[in-house]
Amino acid sequence: MKITDFYNYKKPGRKISMITAYDYTLAALAAESAVDCVLVGDSLAMVMHGHGSTLAATADLMALHTAAVARAVKDKLVVGDMPFLTMRKGLGPAMETVEKLARAGAQAVKVEGLEGHEEIISHIITSDIPVMGHIGLTPQSVNKFGGYRTQGKDPASAERLVSQAQELEQLGCFSLVLECVPERLAERITNLLKIPVIGIGAGPFTDGQVLVMQDMLGLYGEPPSFVKKYLDGRRLVVEALNNFDVEVKRAVFPEMKGKNNGNSERHKEVDEAPYLALRG
Ligand code: KIV
Repeated sequence: MKITDFYNYKKPGRKISMITAYDYTLAALAAESAVDCVLVGDSLAMVMHGHGSTLAATADLMALHTAAVARAVKDKLVVGDMPFLTMRKGLGPAMETVEKLARAGAQAVKVEGLEGHEEIISHIITSDIPVMGHIGLTPQSVNKFGGYRTQGKDPASAERLVSQAQELEQLGCFSLVLECVPERLAERITNLLKIPVIGIGAGPFTDGQVLVMQDMLGLYGEPPSFVKKYLDGRRLVVEALNNFDVEVKRAVFPEMKGKNNGNSERHKEVDEAPYLALRG
């Protein structure tokens, strides 16, 4: 998918799938899949580095992970997240972060929030770097929100989100992420905008969906309730590690190459029953 496909997909109602990736290995699997678009999200601060929030992500960290992902993903759009506070230090520092992400391989950047960012968003767009907006539950504002709570539940905040979405479109954003808002509000915003709206925890009516890859693969912590687990990844990985551990400790792995290498008696001594049971 190229950036221009984003507009073309909205009209015929062709849904867009976006997935996060932070490292070469999983990005290569995303590249092999049919998923449309890859986001190097600042959630990598939590998923890859064990921080409690996304606030720990820095421009250099984002650039490092973006470069790893871009090495794997050649034929899909790679979007890099503008990390915490990088839109708040003025145009020069913001553009330095944009440059780091673009040089690392991001073809577009995602910006959380709107108020106070208007001028910088316009500048990024007129510098020919496409911008994806992100409103609703913007995790960089977790301290203001007092936790990870659904946004836009009361009429005033719903109207604020509608006008923010419209303004981001007017500023020239090529798409919008809408996170954790009521599904009917997400539907309303999706219908109002010409640019595609990618939802996360925002119900089924948006133009596309994004998930954190480690959440949907069941690899990371306890995911938010809206996440669908497509794989029981933790169980499968821990099971594989335990199988490896058993085989090493019972001298079953590695297997002997030749019959007469002097180890055969030792192997006979291994009680293979538990190992065979593990294999099912
Ligand atoms: O950082 C991230 O992973 C994100 C998505 C969840 C939208 O912003």
